[in-house]
Amino acid sequence: MTVPIAIIGTGIAGLSAAQALIQAGHAVHLFDKSKGPGGRMSSKRSDAGSLDLGAQYFTARDRRFVSQVQQWQAQGWVQEWTPQLYNSNAGVLSPSPDEQTRWVGTPRMGAIGRAELGDTPAVFSCRITEVFRGKQYWHLLDAEGASHGPFSHVICAVPAPQATALLATVPKLAAVAAGVKMDPTWAVALGFEHPLDTPMQGCFVQDSPLDWLACNRSKPGREATLDTWVLHASSEWSRQHIDLSKEAVIEHLYGAFAELLSCPVPAPSFSLAHRWLYARPSSNHEWGALADADLGIYVCGDWCLSGRVEGAWLSGQEAARKLISALNA
Ligand code: FAD
Ligand code: NAI
Repeated sequence: MTVPIAIIGTGIAGLSAAQALIQAGHAVHLFDKSKGPGGRMSSKRSDAGSLDLGAQYFTARDRRFVSQVQQWQAQGWVQEWTPQLYNSNAGVLSPSPDEQTRWVGTPRMGAIGRAELGDTPAVFSCRITEVFRGKQYWHLLDAEGASHGPFSHVICAVPAPQATALLATVPKLAAVAAGVKMDPTWAVALGFEHPLDTPMQGCFVQDSPLDWLACNRSKPGREATLDTWVLHASSEWSRQHIDLSKEAVIEHLYGAFAELLSCPVPAPSFSLAHRWLYARPSSNHEWGALADADLGIYVCGDWCLSGRVEGAWLSGQEAARKLISALNA
């Protein structure tokens, strides 16, 4: 019997590790508390069309990720997004074009996770609460009290605060994860019956409750019944208003959006809010991935590198590389 490797988390880090291990001939089994893959790179289906509420786009700077993105592009899973970019500083809105290549999943950000998962064995709506090692193999316990295993190794690919709890049996790694602070982001989507009268399709914002806004519909391949916009609050505003009701968050951020734009902004006919509790690490690290190779447990995620899609993908690759080299040692 082949004893598979367990991967907790089907965000881009967990999926990247899974792909690298499968390519090296290993069997993996994925777990996620959400209903589907993608984590912070997933999209929400709504009455206004699908919405990218988390990662908005990604850049590729490391040559390994550049080559991965080229493959995704060849498979039709990603396309370049070339928005009319603006910058808003102290209430002054100005065009801010640049030469940066920015990628998005098509027809939605979540398409990358779905495609990367393929038919890899995975259990969704399954929150893992405990990770423990028997005499030889690893076992997982979920929130319903069910046990999963045996597994030869475990890769923990979840945000640092969630990893801390799962690493209780490996205090050395738990202590590293516990030292990583992650900031929240409130996201709001608005849908308008008629397109707003602005050429702006994306905007970096300073000096406002907002940090970023984008015309979701301007991304390639999106089908939308309304003119859809996604607004992200800054980490600071999100932290200060972490327990505000969704209705109040929508009202505040809609107000900030209307104030920022130089065109009339009617009341939206569609709105929703989503709170990302662990949106981004407060600082970058250079760990790649964490490991206790003797025990056979590995940890990856954006917080081990740059706090971006690229960092998460590279971290997953690094966890797989460490695991494979320990097996070959
Ligand atoms: P995640 O995507 O968080 O995946 C972790 C997975 O683990 C999740 O699916 C979760 O459900 C699961 N999980 C957690 N705990 C458990 C448990 N106990 N049991 C089972 N499953 C569990 N990056 C960019 O490059 N560009 C951007 O424009 C950008 N914008 C962003 C905007 C927002 C609002 C947010 C939130 C993030 C943004 N990012 C952006 C960051 C980017 O989304 C992340 O860096 C990346 O997606 C993280 O991937 P990951 O696999 O490390 O973690
Ligand atoms: P990038 O190179 O487009 O942006 C990096 C940063 O440079 C931006 O945040 C912005 O401050 C600045 N910038 C870039 N182009 C600009 C322009 N034309 N005009 C004005 N400012 C510009 O992309 P990269 O490096 O891949 O970063 C990813 C993005 O994801 C960042 O914007 C980051 O803030 C965002 N992010 C948001 C998270 C959240 O929780 N809201 C979490 C993680 C990343």
